[in-house]
Amino acid sequence: MKRRLGSSGIEVHAVGLGAMALSIAGRPPQAQALAVIRAFVEGGGNFIDTANVYSLDDTDIGHSERLVGRALDALGARDQVVVATKGGLRRPHGQWVSDGRPHWLRESCAASLRALGVQRIDLYHLHAVDPAVPIEDSMGALVRLQEAGWIAHIGVSNVDAAQLERARAVAQVVSVQNRCNVLEQRDLRSGLLARCARDDIAYLPHSSVGGHHGHVRLRESKVVAGIAARHGVTPYQVAVAWLLAQGENVIPIPGAARVESVRASLAALRILLTPAEIAALDALADG
Ligand SMILES: NC(=O)c1ccc[n+]([C@@H]2O[C@H](COP(=O)([O-])OP(=O)(O)OC[C@H]3O[C@@H](n4cnc5c(N)ncnc54)[C@H](OP(=O)(O)O)[C@@H]3O)[C@@H](O)[C@H]2O)c1
Repeated sequence: MKRRLGSSGIEVHAVGLGAMALSIAGRPPQAQALAVIRAFVEGGGNFIDTANVYSLDDTDIGHSERLVGRALDALGARDQVVVATKGGLRRPHGQWVSDGRPHWLRESCAASLRALGVQRIDLYHLHAVDPAVPIEDSMGALVRLQEAGWIAHIGVSNVDAAQLERARAVAQVVSVQNRCNVLEQRDLRSGLLARCARDDIAYLPHSSVGGHHGHVRLRESKVVAGIAARHGVTPYQVAVAWLLAQGENVIPIPGAARVESVRASLAALRILLTPAEIAALDALADG
């Protein structure tokens, strides 16, 4: 099953891969990380989400981008996989700190091109809005990178509806990447996800099955467990199937540090939840 990356017109497999867990603290050995990406591509996946800051700290920036580039070269899959990356954060001493200043975005993008080993980045997200920098200034920097041919398409991440509108006044935004999963449905309740669908913007729910740490909460839900048991699948797969059911513009990007996780997420495409099951899952979280 393919889905469009909004108005970019690019079609990708409906389940992507979030590469964060392969590069931050607790990351697996490199051979395992490469095996995860291989399993994803061999399983039919062709959309990988990364970021310059998926690394241990500022001294390790670009770890994930180098890994993804190396894996795609080894697989001979450069041309068949769409890679999205991001700029707008820093990792001093392993913290996550926003920096949306135009000159930093330009410097970051130049480094991302080198780390990925490409001439042009398929999709570049502003990772987060920097409270110290008007979003128009950060987006303006991305438009200049697009005009220079460094990036093909622009997305935003961790935005609310008002920030999205301000961003769209400056740039053609093809994707929104916000936190969203069956336990955290804020963008469904607020109507942001539906608004993206209306405006031909792909919605990429990050922390797709609960997040790097939060995913363990999935296993505690009796509702999710009951539906999983009925379909003979895992709660994680139900969580991915539920996201896919939220709209044609939704492309989940579940993370994985294990090959088993990535295979299971791709297999979730085959699960057809009933309207009653979707309604029960919709009612789970309160925003
Ligand atoms: N824009 C942002 O600010 C932002 C923030 C956070 C994340 N993200 C993006 O969103 C992606 C996903 O978020 P995430 O990795 O933090 O959280 P996640 O997708 O909720 O995944 C968390 C963990 O759940 C496990 N898992 C996932 N699918 C599974 C399955 N089908 N079966 C069994 N276990 C499964 C994996 O564990 P194992 O590691 O054991 O395989 C994974 O590391 C990230 O990789 C990143 O690309 C973006």
